[in-house]
Amino acid sequence: MRNEQPKMIYLKDYQAPEYLIDETHLTFELFEDHTLVHAQLVMRRNPARGAGLPPLVLDGQQLELLALALDGVELTAADYQLSDSQLTLQPKAVSFVVDSSVRIHPESNTALEGLYKSGSMFCTQCEAEGFRKITYYLDRPDVMSKFTTTLSGEQHKYPVLLSNGNLIASGPDDNGRHWATWEDPFMKPAYLFALVAGDLWCVEDSFTTMSQREVTLRIYVEPENIDKCQHAMDSLKKSMRWDEEVYGREYDLDIFMIVAVNDFNMGAMENKGLNIFNSSCVLARAETATDAAHQRVEGVVAHEYFHNWSGNRVTCRDWFQLSLKEGFTVFRDAEFSADMNSRTVKRIEDVAFLRTNQFAEDAGPMAHPVRPDSFIEISNFYTLTVYEKGSEVVRMIHTLLGAEGFRKGTDLYFQRHDGQAVTCDDFVKAMEDANGVELTQFKRWYSQGGTPRLAVSESYDAANQSYSLTFRQSCPATPGQSEKLPFVIPVELGLLNGQGADLPLRLAGEPAAQGTTRVLSVTEAEQVFTFVDVAEKPLPSLLRGLSAPVKLNFAYDRDQLMFLMQHDSDGFNRWEAGQQLAVQVLQELIGQHQRGAALVLDQRLVVALRTVLENPSLDQAMVAEMLSLPSEAYLTEISEVADVEAIHTAREFARQQLAESLFQPLWQRYQANREVSRQSAYVAEAGHFARRSLQNIALSYLLLTARPEVLAACLEQYDSCDNMTERLAALAVLVNSAHEQERAKALAVFAEHFKGNPLVMDQWFSVQAASALPGGLQRVRELMEHPAFTLKNPNKVRALIGAFAGQNLVNFHSADGSGYRFLADMVITLNALNPQIAARQLAPLTRWRKYDSARQALMKAELERILASGELSSDVYEVVSKSLA
Ligand code: TRP
Ligand code: ZN
Repeated sequence: MRNEQPKMIYLKDYQAPEYLIDETHLTFELFEDHTLVHAQLVMRRNPARGAGLPPLVLDGQQLELLALALDGVELTAADYQLSDSQLTLQPKAVSFVVDSSVRIHPESNTALEGLYKSGSMFCTQCEAEGFRKITYYLDRPDVMSKFTTTLSGEQHKYPVLLSNGNLIASGPDDNGRHWATWEDPFMKPAYLFALVAGDLWCVEDSFTTMSQREVTLRIYVEPENIDKCQHAMDSLKKSMRWDEEVYGREYDLDIFMIVAVNDFNMGAMENKGLNIFNSSCVLARAETATDAAHQRVEGVVAHEYFHNWSGNRVTCRDWFQLSLKEGFTVFRDAEFSADMNSRTVKRIEDVAFLRTNQFAEDAGPMAHPVRPDSFIEISNFYTLTVYEKGSEVVRMIHTLLGAEGFRKGTDLYFQRHDGQAVTCDDFVKAMEDANGVELTQFKRWYSQGGTPRLAVSESYDAANQSYSLTFRQSCPATPGQSEKLPFVIPVELGLLNGQGADLPLRLAGEPAAQGTTRVLSVTEAEQVFTFVDVAEKPLPSLLRGLSAPVKLNFAYDRDQLMFLMQHDSDGFNRWEAGQQLAVQVLQELIGQHQRGAALVLDQRLVVALRTVLENPSLDQAMVAEMLSLPSEAYLTEISEVADVEAIHTAREFARQQLAESLFQPLWQRYQANREVSRQSAYVAEAGHFARRSLQNIALSYLLLTARPEVLAACLEQYDSCDNMTERLAALAVLVNSAHEQERAKALAVFAEHFKGNPLVMDQWFSVQAASALPGGLQRVRELMEHPAFTLKNPNKVRALIGAFAGQNLVNFHSADGSGYRFLADMVITLNALNPQIAARQLAPLTRWRKYDSARQALMKAELERILASGELSSDVYEVVSKSLA
C-alpha cells in the first residue's frame, strides 16, 4: 500500500543509470516462515555518466535489512539511509562490492509479485518491478548483470531447485536440506530473474538446433498434471523450429525449462531459460482442455519462447518501451499461430478481439499511446494497447516493407543490438537502415494514442474510365493529447467488377497495372487516389486483413455487402462484409426496440448466411466465424451511447430468427459434424478445430428452437463426447437455455466429475458467470461460496468475477447498479490481497462513458467509493483516479 503520494514517472525524465552491476551473486535460504536472501553485487560507476561518485540508490520494498557491507566492511545505520522503497549509501571508489542480507516472507505474499508460494512450491515473478521485493538492487531493465544463484531448502518438500541458466553444482546440506547453484552466462536485467523450488515432476525432450546443438527441454508440473504436458512440449519444439526458419534465431542455452504454477497474475513469463507459466497456459489434453485452450497453450508457449530474442537478448531500455518486446513478440506469435493453423481464422479472431477490447481501451480514460509518456504504476501498462495495438504497428511495418524487407530489418536489429537495452526508435531505425526507407511519420503510431477513423468516399467517371477514392483520416482526443497529426495508414485494397473478380489496379500516372490487390499509403488528413482503365464502376474491398488498426467508414449498402461476402477474393474481407451486414441489421433492430416497434429481421441476413451454410466448399471454420454475430461487447463499442438492454434483445431476437429460418441446414451441418466427431479420436489440429467450431455454433442456434430432437442431441453430445470442446459447448448451451432440469443435472455431473481439476472448474464457473439469464449476480454470489472458489487465485477471480463483469453485460449493467456495487466491493477486497488483479478487474467500470446518464452516475459513484475506501495500492489508485479525472 502507499505511504507516500503516488508519483507520476515520465519518459522525458529518463537518465542512464549512475552505477552498473557487472555480477550478481544470490543465495536463497528457503524456510516455511521466512526466506533469507543474500546478495553480492559487483558494481562500478557507469562511465557514460561521467566522473564523480553520487550516492548509490538501490530499490527495495518490503525487505527487512539484516546486514549490509561495502567492500567487505560492515555498515552501521549511520552509513546508509533507508526508506520504504530505497536504500541509499555512498560508494568510495569507482568499483566496489555491496553485500546485503534481507529477510522476506514469500509464505504470506498474496500479491504474487517477487518471491511467493503457489500451493506448496516457491516461485518468482519479477517483471516489471518485482525484483525489488526480493533484494536491494538497481531494478531497471537497462542494468544488466551476470547472475549466479544458489538456493537451499528441505530436500523432501523441495526436491527440485531451479534458477536461470545452467546447473553448476548441487549437494546435500545437514538436517535434511539440500542446495543447488545455477549460473546464467547471459547478461540480463533483474526482471528476467527466476527461481523455483518444489515437489515437481517433469517431462523431458530434446531439440537439435540449426547448428546441431542439443538442447534439453523440460516442462515441470505438479505430479497429477504430468499427463497434460505433451501439447505444450510439441508447441515448444514447433516454436523453436519456426523461429529458426522464419527469423534465423537459434536458442542459446543448453537447457530450456517451463514450470507450471496455479497462482499467476498473467499468462506466462519469459525468464531466461526458466519460463514460468500460469498452468492454464501449459496444461492441455483432450478430456480437460477445449480447442481454444489448446490454441492458447500453443500461442503462449511460442510467445514466451520468442521473447528469448525479442525481449531477452535484446531488451527494453526502460518500461515506456515495453511494446518494443511485447508488440513485436505478439506479432511473432500471431504469425506462428497463423502458420500452424488457419491464417484467415487467426486473423479474424485477433481482429475481433482488437476491435472489441483494444478500441474500447483507446476510447476510455486509460487510453495511452503504444509507447506511453507517463505512468504511476507500470503494472497497469501491460495493456491491450501495448500488446495488441503494438503488434498491429509491427504488422504495418511488415506490410509496408514486405516480408523480405522486414526480415532484413529484424536481422539488423538483432545483430546491432544483441546484449543491449534499447528503445522503439532503435527498432524502427533498424527497419529504416536495412531498407533505405524513412519511417519518421510512421512513428506517430508509437507516440499518438486513440483509434484513427478513416472515412472513404468514391467517385466514378465513366467518360474517362477513372475511379477515385478519397480518404479522410482523423483521430479523437485522448488523455493529454488533444491534437493529432496524420498517421501513415497502409490500406490494402482491391476493386471488384460486376462478376466479383478483382480488377487490375493502375493508378493515374503509372505506366501499367500492378497486380489486383495492393497497399496504398494514406499519409495526409485528406488524400485522393485515382485508378485508371476502370471500364465499369467497381465495388471496393478496403483495408483487407485489417491492414491498419483504424475504424473504416465506407457507405456500403446491404446488397453490396452480400456481394462482397460471396465474391471478395480476400477471405478476411468476406467475413468482414458479413459482420458489417450483421451490424447494420442489428442496429436496425436496436432502433426498432428503442422506438417500441415490432422487431423485423432483414431477410437478407438470413439469405446470406444460408448461402454460406449451404456452400460445402467453404472452410468450416470460416462458416462458423460467419455465423457468429458481432458480440454484445462489440456492438457496445461501436455505439455512441450503448443501450445494453436493446443490444441484448436485438441480438437474441436475430439469433432466434436465424435458428428458425436456417433450422434445416444447421441441423444437417450439426449432425454431419457430430457424426465425424463421434467416429474420430480428438486431434488438436486446424481441420478438427474447424469441424468442432461449426458443430458447436450450430448447436447453440439449434437449441433456441424448441425441438425435442435438438435437446436430445445436445444431451447425447454432453454425455458421450470424449473431449472438453464438445462437452463445454453442450454445457454452455444448456446453461443458457430454458431447460432447467437438464441444466442443473449437467452442472452437477460436471462439478462432481471435475472437482479435482481447478482449470476445468474455472470453465464451470465461467460458463455460469456469463449466462445472460436473469438473476446473474445472485448466481455469482452463490458460486463464490463454492468450495472450489477463492479470491486468492487469479484464475478463479477471472473465471467468475471477470466473466460476469466482462461478458454478462445485461446482468452486470443491471439498472439498479447492483452489478457495479458488487464489482467495487470485489476491487476493494482484492486491493488488499493482489493489487495487480484488483486494478485489472476495474476495466468494465472505466468504460462508464459508453452508457446512459443514470448508469454513468452509478458507475462513477462506485469509483468514488473505491477511492474513498482507505489505503489504495498505486495500481488501483491510478486506474480509479484517471477514470474519474
Ligand atoms: N512478459 C510477460 C509476457 O510474456 C508478461 C507478464 C507476466 C507480466 N507476468 C507478469 C507483466 C506480471 C506484469 C506482471 O507478456
Ligand atoms: Zn510477452
